[in-house]
Amino acid sequence: MRVAILCGGGDAPGTNAVIRAIVRKGIMNYNYQMFGVEDGWKGMIDGNIAPMDMNSISGILHRGGTILGTSRTNPFKREGAPQKVLENMKKFSLDALIAIGGDDTLGAAQKMFEIGLPCVGVPKTIDNDLACTDYTFGFNTAVSITTEALDRLHTTAESHKRVMVVEVMGRHAGWIALESGIAGGADYILIPEKTVDVEEICTYLKRRHARGKKFSMVVVAEGAKLRGGTEAVSTTELDEFGHVRLGGIGQILGKEIEKCLGIETRVVVLGHLQRGGSPTAFDRILGTKFGLAAIDLVADGKFGQMPALNGNKIITASIKDAVGKQKVISQDLYEMAKIFFG
Ligand code: F6P
Repeated sequence: MRVAILCGGGDAPGTNAVIRAIVRKGIMNYNYQMFGVEDGWKGMIDGNIAPMDMNSISGILHRGGTILGTSRTNPFKREGAPQKVLENMKKFSLDALIAIGGDDTLGAAQKMFEIGLPCVGVPKTIDNDLACTDYTFGFNTAVSITTEALDRLHTTAESHKRVMVVEVMGRHAGWIALESGIAGGADYILIPEKTVDVEEICTYLKRRHARGKKFSMVVVAEGAKLRGGTEAVSTTELDEFGHVRLGGIGQILGKEIEKCLGIETRVVVLGHLQRGGSPTAFDRILGTKFGLAAIDLVADGKFGQMPALNGNKIITASIKDAVGKQKVISQDLYEMAKIFFG
């Protein structure tokens, strides 16, 4: 059997652990011939597909990013591209493709599966907003990096008696904001799932300042909106999956808080720092388990499926059930975080 792997969408720490596990088990246990596709669906369309052996995956476990490269190419937005993908499967005599990605990449994988591509998915996104799995790899690393940043920003905010607004990633769901905010002791957390008034935020911060606290930490997800406002975007240009580039809510919020509280406010945007560098042990292990399960799905001929995490068990979910919807933060969870606001 000849099996190829691609990674699409934003990179996520732990992707190399997935690739390593797939290739190693594919070669050692199944005696498969393994292939890597460069830059996601773009490589499948252009035929940038190369053999992988045990040397290809040596020394990559601790490395961030993806050794295969990634892109936000959508085969269904390019004339004749789905057909080219199928032709390249034939040209390289590939029997199966494993697509590592989030909602966009797996959405394309599902559509390709429906037109005849033998495809297995692996759920990946630092945003952790993919349905059918409790966690995606990359999220734990992003939360760890963000929590460390919050700890650092805490001490400078305290010294200068400022409000510090920290903008983090999270397009549709505020998982990074919520978990790092809880871990980093945020005094208010804004998430895309919940629109709030600046007055409400300031009521909490005033309560804290009335107790004698002279600084505050506010975490905001990039996709969050203030009541009456819209998503803050850094460019209106759409990518091939129809997304705008988000960014700027931190600045808007910082100005509003400063106006409302009269306390000097600074804004920090963590951006791609949250995605770069070494994965945590959790993400290396989750990535490894997903990779091993993905190659087993190929061996069992379970196409259109993906491994997922349920509690502490790796289960199988249908890609169709996971895409096109988001796993968002429940009211209960947000209420728990709110206990620590202000
Ligand atoms: O992969 C998801 C994500 O991290 C989002 O939170 C963010 O909006 C987006 O990627 C930004 O990615 P890029 O700047 O690489 O397009």
